[in-house]
Amino acid sequence: MAKSMKVVITGGAGYIGSHVLKALAERGYSVLTIDNLSCGHKESVLYGDLAVVDLDDKESLDKIFDSYRPHAVMHFAASIVVPESVKEPLKYYKNNFCNTLNLLDVCVKYKVKNFIFSSSAAVYGIPTKSPVSEDVPLAPINPYGKTKAMVESMLSDLAQAEDFKYISLRYFNVAGADSTGKLGQKKADATHLITLAVKTALGKRPYLEIYGTDYPTKDGTCIRDYIHVEDIAFAHILALEYLIEKGQSDVFNCGYGHGYSVREVVEATKKVSGVDFRVIETHRREGDPPELVADTKKIKKLMGWMPKYDDLNYIIKTALEWERKLS
Ligand SMILES: NC(=O)c1ccc[n+]([C@@H]2O[C@H](COP(=O)([O-])OP(=O)(O)OC[C@H]3O[C@@H](n4cnc5c(N)ncnc54)[C@H](O)[C@@H]3O)[C@@H](O)[C@H]2O)c1
Repeated sequence: MAKSMKVVITGGAGYIGSHVLKALAERGYSVLTIDNLSCGHKESVLYGDLAVVDLDDKESLDKIFDSYRPHAVMHFAASIVVPESVKEPLKYYKNNFCNTLNLLDVCVKYKVKNFIFSSSAAVYGIPTKSPVSEDVPLAPINPYGKTKAMVESMLSDLAQAEDFKYISLRYFNVAGADSTGKLGQKKADATHLITLAVKTALGKRPYLEIYGTDYPTKDGTCIRDYIHVEDIAFAHILALEYLIEKGQSDVFNCGYGHGYSVREVVEATKKVSGVDFRVIETHRREGDPPELVADTKKIKKLMGWMPKYDDLNYIIKTALEWERKLS
């Protein structure tokens, strides 16, 4: 089945999309990337064709779907920086919501029944329990998280109305790089803690800031669930197989089910890199929940997903090796 399946990957030139693209292609799927290269890089598209198209260009989307006739779509393309979404909300509603609507229009027109969506732990806002499970009411607290929750609602409604099935994967903190060293995160202005920490260790940044040291956590800093990008990639393969076999829409958390504090990540990065880089402790950022950790029972039980890289030092090591390559 995989060999004959054609998958469109929006945002396939970006960090997570490019890893998933590689995982799909290595398993025999045919892949086609749609990316406007606003944040992605064409050299990250290791397999298949790349259509440099913006998702607001409905005419081009129509032409691509008409000629490629995909069996499935994996939708990664989005604007992803939470503080920017607070400053420029309309950019986020347009790119993350309206452009997803364009994509879904074309999916319905060309009868694409299988859709996998990159959702986020940001849909939970400040969860009242941790680990957080998929069934808690969504309460996003910033425009980024709100756009992800809105798309989830739209998908659910569409699946009721059409012959269309979807899986939303709510990623926690994705980090690390491809084990073979071919891919990694390439954003010069990345905001992800592990990327910033390895950049600081390599002297690409003068210091690393810790935002808030007075949270009600074991050491006062925020706790997050860091998941290696290749484990996320494998979750997409399973999600696609699940959709095809079971034909059932669903929502799954993607994390490891345990978290590390910012201080723990900083200490681990110092240890793995061997560099005692400068750290500045500063005020809290608005809207940062003290702890965000996934309850992972559902994805393990229903999809049989088992992480391979649940090791903070390994995640940091792959991120560091990739960042070293970039310099
Ligand atoms: N990185 C994380 O930790 C994380 C966590 C939760 C959810 N997510 C979600 O995962 C997805 C991928 O994130 P990422 O970290 O790989 O981000 P990224 O910025 O590296 O990749 C996004 C890609 O989408 C492309 N893109 C954006 N808008 C587009 C448009 N209008 N038309 C065509 N292409 C467009 C960009 O050029 C880029 O290549 C996003 O939907 C993000 O919200 C990421």
